[in-house]
Amino acid sequence: MIKEEIKIRDARETDLPDLGQIYAEAFNNADVGESWNPKHALELLTCLHNHKPNIFLVAEINGKIVGGFLGVIKPFFGSNDLCDTELFVSPKHQNLGIGRKLFKEIINKAVSKYDVKYIQGIADSEKEFPIKWYKKLGFKSSRWVHIYGKVEEILKNFNKE
Ligand SMILES: CC(C)(COP(=O)(O)OP(=O)(O)OC[C@H]1O[C@@H](n2cnc3c(N)ncnc32)[C@H](O)[C@@H]1OP(=O)(O)O)[C@@H](O)C(=O)NCCC(=O)NCCS
Repeated sequence: MIKEEIKIRDARETDLPDLGQIYAEAFNNADVGESWNPKHALELLTCLHNHKPNIFLVAEINGKIVGGFLGVIKPFFGSNDLCDTELFVSPKHQNLGIGRKLFKEIINKAVSKYDVKYIQGIADSEKEFPIKWYKKLGFKSSRWVHIYGKVEEILKNFNKE
């Protein structure tokens, strides 16, 4: 694979079904403890795509979409951050430099268009990759941890009080 063959461009609404398919494949293959189907992935990507402003890039090889990177722009402490980031490359096309190329492009665009200062996202803490890669790129872990709770259970606990 020659790096020049990978084309990065802005995502279009009509790309979303393909992107949903790739998202589901990429995260299921990465075995991050989540089970995705293309329909649910499409719902998530459509929702993030509708959140304005955002940056959503796709990578193409010979006109075929093979990956994407999206993030939403949020004001943070007087400047803008790129948040809720989602990076995914089709398993068949991983380790060819596509993720790296998407990364460079989204940063350049985030800085030039929105003067973004920081990128925020979540990463699997149980695997060496990709967290080691992120750290090499300069990312740090914060003191915050991802929390989630089932509403039904939380309400039950409130009602016990
Ligand atoms: C993370 C992901 C987007 C990387 O995309 P990719 O196109 O395969 O990445 P690249 O080929 O550009 O490689 C990026 C770097 O990671 C390294 N790398 C790629 N795959 C790797 C693997 N399986 N194990 C270890 N290192 C790996 C490359 O050597 C490269 O290192 P360098 O930049 O220091 O040279 C892709 O693996 C993926 O879609 N994973 C599933 C979804 C996911 O986990 N997304 C991130 C959520 S935090």
